Amino acid sequence: RSAGVVGAAFCRGQSRSGVEEGPDRIRAAGLLDRLQQRGCAVKDYGNLVFDDVVEPSGGGGLRSVAAVGGANRRLSEAMKAVKEDGHTAVMLGGDHSLAIGSIHGHAAAVGQLSVVWVDAHADINTPLTTYTGNFHGQPMSFLLHELQSKVPVLPNFSWVKPCVSAKDLVYIGLRDVDPAEHYILKMLGVKVFSISEVDRLGIARVMEETCDYLTARGKKPVHLSYDVDAIDPSVTPATGTPVVGGLTYREGVYITEHLCGTGLLSAVDLVEVNPLLAKTDQDVQSTVNTAVDLLLGCFGRLREGNHPADYSLP
Ligand code: ARG
Ligand code: MN
Ligand code: MN
Ligand code: MN
Repeated sequence: RSAGVVGAAFCRGQSRSGVEEGPDRIRAAGLLDRLQQRGCAVKDYGNLVFDDVVEPSGGGGLRSVAAVGGANRRLSEAMKAVKEDGHTAVMLGGDHSLAIGSIHGHAAAVGQLSVVWVDAHADINTPLTTYTGNFHGQPMSFLLHELQSKVPVLPNFSWVKPCVSAKDLVYIGLRDVDPAEHYILKMLGVKVFSISEVDRLGIARVMEETCDYLTARGKKPVHLSYDVDAIDPSVTPATGTPVVGGLTYREGVYITEHLCGTGLLSAVDLVEVNPLLAKTDQDVQSTVNTAVDLLLGCFGRLREGNHPADYSLP
């Protein structure tokens, strides 16, 4: 098992600067070394270089349309290459609009996917339902086959081909869903474990049911798209759209341990770490260290401990 890490230092899917520092801060917290110490081979593909984009006039209230479309096109190509090189792909964001390119490129390389979306938000607004104009609240609408008649073609988005079916998507941790998003989730019958279901069932049962649901139609590679704002802001305060009442650190890590244990995890996004939005350095450290722990969980770190397969007692 090897990790192929792509940095996407991109913030224009939302309005607050600083989220572009996510990839370097997560690396600086020791992600690559700690993966290697665990016996995981790592290839760092570095940070993608995005073109400066001149936005067309009259973007219809949408923020940075052409920049978001262009950056995601580049990211899609990069993720496809990482998968073709045989790695489990890790995309370090950046804001969550990057899931468009990440999931698109993953699907381009491996075909049909399951998507597990861990987030306070559903990020399934269309360009016509968004209140904020921010693309980080819309990525799933571009990816789902079922929503294509509701999504206009935008500048620099014509390359996007929908690649996920609504029945192959599971949400975990939702607690701030816009009315149009709630309508879409119900209309399409998307499987949602909101934070209320986590309260009711417990995280162990949520993960059992998530994996049973996804594998019932065959064992497809899993794309985990992890927004750090899924976790409670007392643990991960350095993020652009914090929502009270989130997953605990333990629930958050459990999700990664469980998905790793299925052997199906094929790509992971870790997005929305914004070091500039923390009040204290301790808040930054807590957010970044949690992001690293989530990623280590995706690559086999167990809180019970681990030992190498060839270990022998001296
Ligand atoms: N629903 C809001 C919107 O569409 C908030 C989205 C927050 N998304 C995120 N990736 N943090 O703008
Ligand atoms: Mn979110
Ligand atoms: Mn398809
Ligand atoms: Mn999100």
